[in-house]
Amino acid sequence: MADLTPLLAYRWSPRAFDPSAELTAEESASLLEAARWAPSAENGQPWRFALGHRDDETWKRILINLPDSDQGWVRHAATLVVGAHTGGDAERAAYDLGQAIAHLTVQATALGLHVHQLTRFDRAGLSTELDLAGGVRPLVVAAIGRLGDPFTLPTELCALETGLRHRRPLADLLLA
Ligand SMILES: Cc1cc2nc3c(=O)[nH]c(=O)nc-3n(C[C@H](O)[C@H](O)[C@H](O)COP(=O)(O)O)c2cc1C
Repeated sequence: MADLTPLLAYRWSPRAFDPSAELTAEESASLLEAARWAPSAENGQPWRFALGHRDDETWKRILINLPDSDQGWVRHAATLVVGAHTGGDAERAAYDLGQAIAHLTVQATALGLHVHQLTRFDRAGLSTELDLAGGVRPLVVAAIGRLGDPFTLPTELCALETGLRHRRPLADLLLA
């Protein structure tokens, strides 16, 4: 395998978060700053974010719109970030939002944090719960925190957490 910068090599999406860890205000600001400086088509910056910290009102409103099966582990994340876009060309805006979240994720790794993104949630419910304006579309929830003990997870999640991660070989990704 070709070399990767450690910031990318150490990134992965855990489900076991430390339930006692919190993000400092500086860490939260640093994550948003990373997202803010992401590139976007025509510098449109169509991304918008909502942040909730464990047990605050926003955090609870985000959590209840996730599937029941995910709430059990996501509730241990210190911070939940909703990534939304402001539309226009929806495909382009979604692409830009994805880049912003990727930047946030790399910055999180640099801070010793982990991020688990989720797109499986009730988008309409979350829009209502956060009172988002009509054109603002939430596409992702990023659960962010410090690593926890995988052996506190239910058996099948623990197996996922401790199993090998896989990727398609590079040759399969090349179109020509
Ligand atoms: C756009 C996006 C959506 C995702 N949605 C979910 C999700 O709804 N639920 C979930 O448990 N994981 C979700 N994930 C996490 C992926 O399953 C995970 O990134 C993938 O299995 C690769 O594992 P890794 O991040 O540890 O390398 C999502 C990741 C991304 C980037």
